Formats: sequence, structure tokens, C-alpha cells
Amino acid sequence: MSHHKNHKFIFYWDIFISLLATFAAIEIPFGLVMHYNTPIWLRCVDQMVTICFILDIYIRFRSPVHHGKPPHHSGAERKKYLKGWLLIDILASIPFDIFVLMIGNNTGLSALRLFRLLKVLRIISFRSVWLNSINSNPVFVRLSFFFYFLGLTAHWASCGWLAIRGLHYPLVPAEAYVGRLNEYVRALYWSVTTITTIGYGDITPDKTKSMQMLFTMGVQLIGAGAYGYIIGNIANMLTNIDMAKARHQERVDRMNSFMKSKKIPQHLQEQVYQYYNYLWETRKGYNDETILSELPESFRFEFAMLLNRSIIEKVPLFKGADQNLVREVIFKLRPCIYIPGDAICVSGEIGDKMYFINKGSVEVTSQDGKQVYAVLKEGDFFGEIALLMKQPRNATIRASDYCDLYSLDKESFDDVVTNYPAFEKHIKNMAKERMQ
Ligand code: CMP
Repeated sequence: MSHHKNHKFIFYWDIFISLLATFAAIEIPFGLVMHYNTPIWLRCVDQMVTICFILDIYIRFRSPVHHGKPPHHSGAERKKYLKGWLLIDILASIPFDIFVLMIGNNTGLSALRLFRLLKVLRIISFRSVWLNSINSNPVFVRLSFFFYFLGLTAHWASCGWLAIRGLHYPLVPAEAYVGRLNEYVRALYWSVTTITTIGYGDITPDKTKSMQMLFTMGVQLIGAGAYGYIIGNIANMLTNIDMAKARHQERVDRMNSFMKSKKIPQHLQEQVYQYYNYLWETRKGYNDETILSELPESFRFEFAMLLNRSIIEKVPLFKGADQNLVREVIFKLRPCIYIPGDAICVSGEIGDKMYFINKGSVEVTSQDGKQVYAVLKEGDFFGEIALLMKQPRNATIRASDYCDLYSLDKESFDDVVTNYPAFEKHIKNMAKERMQ
């Protein structure tokens, strides 16, 4: 079997084992308290479960997994298995039902069948596998596991309740089955109202029987714990469904209280909000640059290529330019946003960047803003004269729209012009035209 196929097989095998474990976890306690005569098909299933659980020990030993993947060190994983899970897996696969058949029905021996329930612990190891898989929704996974175990606990609690209280209906007449089933439903009703801390109190422990009261308290504590978990986590999980939005809102809130505490003038605050809104609408609150900086160097280049390709296609200056130049520039471009009215360059200042317009438009004006020399749009660039001629900005640039720009810093620009003389010539010609 190839590595990949083997991995797939293990995945489905794990699901299969989990289903069997769930079945056993439901049937065994139920059978123990109901004392029904196990039908032959159930016996067969039980034997099959035993065989599969034993096979499972072999499979787990042969191909250990770590977080659902083949581990780097099979040996280390194997040792870990021998030390931890092996005991649980062995206890869960001992066929106590066969001993019961051989020795005769004996409550103590039958109760040993409950060791099977240990196998549901296996399902917990799935949680991390599914949480880490790419196309699963973590909130959904967490909630499913929570409700799965809550359901099992409710079932176990009602079986325990029946075991302690005893059943009223006798076994013999066939009609009694309905009565017994009804008793189970009543017990389930009790355990659900207790676990959910609703506690109607219409079914309560007999106050003269300590065992019943102790058991009830135990279930109440589990209920309180589960309730705490819900309050603590589920609300949090639900807000996290839209994590990007929540994170963005948090940033806005933080900035808001900062600006209030520093008494930033109202109109500036207004502008900051506009900026954040635009950031949310255009890029869901993510700032490309911070995201990129989290990635290892090797991915960063490819990401930058993907994210910045549109700008390269828009700017005529890059059309027909050397591919190496494009690759070099693309990696150095930094996205930035301006809101209407922002001064991007101010005439007479020292310039250390040039800009490419990805979206929006800007006005090229005199310093006082009275004279408009030009309007630049998507695909245009500006700010090159200061870098090329090593002189102050010769005009003021104001955003007349929401602007998505890419900036290229002086150092990178200098690198590019020295390495690609044809490009330098081209951009110099355009600059000369503008300066006239
Ligand atoms: P720089 O001098 O660095 O800063 C102001 C920028 O405005 C300048 O570079 C040019 O990119 C741009 N600019 C100046 N004059 C014109 C013009 N007449 N038409 C278009 N763009 C201009």
C-alpha cells in the first residue's frame, strides 16, 4: 500500500472504530440495566466489535498516526502508543461477554463489559485531527464533539440512574418491554433536566437513599460544568464564526478608545473610521503586509506575486518590461490606502517613495492646491521625479477618491534603475515630459 493510500485507509478505519465504540457505549450500559435477553444478532455484533478492536490494536501498532498524519518518527509514536493507549485498547477489546456466557450470568462479571466504553476516548483524538484539517469549520467541530459527549453522558447518567433506582417492571411478560422502555425515557428525561441544570424536580432522588442523592449530585456537578463550558465557550465560538469581522471590530474599538483618550479632533477621528471602513470593504480588514510578515520567506515571494500581479498588469510602464525586473519590483511593492482629501505628496518635501495607482484617482496640484496640473488614474504612477532627479517633490498629490496604492521605496527604486537601464530611460523620458 502506498503511503497516501495507507493514510486514507487509517482515516476511514478510525471512523469505523469510532462508530463501533459509540454503538458499544450506548448498547452495553443499556443492556446491563435493562437485563434483556441479548438477541443473537447483538451477540454477533458484540463478537465483531471484539475482533475489530483487537485488529485495531494491530493496525495502530503497525502504522501509528500523529494528528491524523503518518508521524516522522514511527518508532517514537509506537513507544508512546505502548505506554498510553495500548492498555486502554486492550481493556476495551477483552470479550467479557464470552466469559459471561461461559461462567453464567453474574452481575459483577457483566459489569466488566463496561471496559468497552473506554474506546470512546479514541474519538477525542479525532478532535485535533478535524480541528487541524483545512476544510473543516472549527466551531462546527467543537460543537459537534461537545454535543456528542453531552449526549453520551446523558445516556450513561440515565442508565446509572436506572441501575441505582432499580426497575419496576418485571422481565417476564412481553408487554413489560414497553413499560421498561418508558422507564428508560423517564430516566433520560431526569438526566437531561439535571445535566442542563433545568431541574424541574418532578423526578427526584429518594431522600432516604444516600446512593441516589450522591449520584444526583454527581450528575448535577457534571451539568454545572457543561453549563459553564457553554457559557464560557459557545458564545465566544459563535462570535468567532466571523473571525475576520470580529478581529476588525476589535481593532476599530481599540483605535476608538485610543483616539478618545488622546482627545484627537473629531474630523480626524472621522477620517480614521473612513479608512477602517474602506479597509474592511476592500480587503476584509486584512493588511497584506502584516499577513505576509507572518509567513516564512519562501512562501512570501509566491504570495507577493499572487497578490500584486494585478497592479503589474495595470501599469503600462511594466508592460513589456524585463520579466526579472517585474519579479524584483513586485516583491518590493507595499500596499497602502488613502482616503479622499489626503495629501500623498506635498510639493517641496523630500520624497522617499514613488507610487502606483491600483484603484482610485489623484490630483496633481500646485502647493496651494489652486492649480490642478493633471488627474492620475488606475495604472498611473507618480512621485518618480523626486527619486530620479534627487530633488524635492515638484507638485502636491491629493487623493480625490479612496485610493489603493502601491509604494516603492527609494532604495528599491535605485536598485531597479541601476540594474535595468532600459527601464531607467523609459521612466526618465516620462518624467521629463511631466516636468515641462
Ligand atoms: P515628484 O516630484 O516626486 O512628486 C510630485 C509628483 O507629481 C511628481 O514626482 C510627478 O510624478 C507628478 N507630476 C508632477 N507634474 C505632473 C504633471 N504635469 N502631470 C502628471 N504628473 C505630474
